[in-house]
Amino acid sequence: MHDTRIARQVLRPEVLGPLRAGFRLDWHGIHGLPHWARVLRYGLAIASREGADPWVVAWFAVLHDHQRNDEGPDRGHGPRAADALASIAERGWLDGLDAGQRDRLAEAIRHHSEGWTHPDPSIGTCWDADRLDLARLGIATAPELLSTRTARRMVDPEAWGGIAPMRAYPPRATCERRHRRTATARTAGAFARRTLAGRTGAAAPSRCVHRQAPLPDAADPPDVRPGRGLTR
Ligand SMILES: [Fe+2]
Repeated sequence: MHDTRIARQVLRPEVLGPLRAGFRLDWHGIHGLPHWARVLRYGLAIASREGADPWVVAWFAVLHDHQRNDEGPDRGHGPRAADALASIAERGWLDGLDAGQRDRLAEAIRHHSEGWTHPDPSIGTCWDADRLDLARLGIATAPELLSTRTARRMVDPEAWGGIAPMRAYPPRATCERRHRRTATARTAGAFARRTLAGRTGAAAPSRCVHRQAPLPDAADPPDVRPGRGLTR
């Protein structure tokens, strides 16, 4: 329940609307909203087991990639996103975070694509959550690139605790069903609940590994427009 409240805060239209307006890439693409939602889900799942700060993890999920200029390495996107925190704070979104939380959030965002691990549970959880979503590209995350024991267990099929099967991309039928369910999420709350339950598609339909053959009736993930909640 607590995770749902956090997810609703960071996925609310008043946050996603401005982020989308400034986003330079495909909102439904490999570094867009579906990715942020999965990083949120993985991060909160890890945070509860590692004693990480869920607010740092949640804000990392929606802010770490929003300054990307391309879908490639774009090595400057972490520092740009960290630098953008000052203007984001002026919007009041981070008012609930104290100085220590803001420092960890900035550190996590600034260096998230360096390939490092980190001993701080919150920063390590942020980076692990992002790397676990390499599964969307059909890439299994290497355990040595993970900071937390929980995430390393998540990529080990023998020890997998029911959080996310990282080595196997969902079968086509599962993906299609999840895309349809995602598309019917009409509110930020419904989208947050489906995200946390792992009931969103593993990738946007247009980016899904199953897209080689058209998906019947597959709709895009919900659009987010300020003040209107989540719509198709
Ligand atoms: Fe990312």
